[in-house]
Amino acid sequence: MAIKVIRVTKVYESSGNSTFKLHAVKNVSMDINEGSYTLLLGPTGSGKTTLLSLIAGIVEPTKGEIVFNNIYITSSNDSKISQFRERYIGYVPQTNLFIKELNVIENILSPNSFLKRQMRHLKTYAMEMLEKLNMDRKAGMKPFELSGGEMKKAMIVRALVKKPLFILADEPFSELDSGSTKSVMALLKEQRENGSAIIVASHDQLSFEKEIDLYTLAEGQVVTYEKRGVK
Ligand SMILES: Nc1ncnc2c1ncn2[C@@H]1O[C@H](COP(=O)(O)OP(=O)(O)OP(=O)(O)O)[C@@H](O)[C@H]1O
Ligand SMILES: [Mg+2]
Repeated sequence: MAIKVIRVTKVYESSGNSTFKLHAVKNVSMDINEGSYTLLLGPTGSGKTTLLSLIAGIVEPTKGEIVFNNIYITSSNDSKISQFRERYIGYVPQTNLFIKELNVIENILSPNSFLKRQMRHLKTYAMEMLEKLNMDRKAGMKPFELSGGEMKKAMIVRALVKKPLFILADEPFSELDSGSTKSVMALLKEQRENGSAIIVASHDQLSFEKEIDLYTLAEGQVVTYEKRGVK
């Protein structure tokens, strides 16, 4: 299972000025293979979130293609895209997307209604992960009762609970202390060892235990690509 990003561009037009066009992502190509670890590194505004949203199918590219196995998801109809996202992608958004009326565990389980028959198992797994992140006591709380870092941890659990093939995480460590970062790294490692590919966007260089594909972005473009670390 693999994702190919083929010369993808996303142009935004300013709502106030139609002649202003911003290339949030420009001509980016990437290969994301099973079990790989990809780091998208770049300063604020370099296009990391836009690129993750394009891969996740949340945003449509202006040009280029996203191919999942042999499915051109950018030219497929909407239901195919949502099926693909639902089954195979776990997304950790940069900002809180929790439903405010639901508590933490309900928020974690709610996007997985397509796995109805496994719900009890999913809940057990979610509670296990919350415990590892020292969050089990917060399972019944509402989003507004959480700190920024706790919210991030809960969103990470929501993305991981269905054991997705592709984990797209937007600044997952930005609000975490070093202990929480370690625990999240351990959860990611576990899923990677089971074959999931992990794509992390970050402003900061991060160190991983294994080889990573490092893409450095600036103004929407990939400026360097290298393989880093030990095999
Ligand atoms: N919906 C949108 N409409 C118009 N412009 C947008 C939109 N989303 C992003 N942009 C622009 O695209 C550029 C890249 O934004 P993006 O959020 O991808 O950057 P980023 O690398 O994730 O930044 P950060 O590190 O601050 O999260 C920015 O200049 C931003 O203004
Ligand atoms: Mg961002």
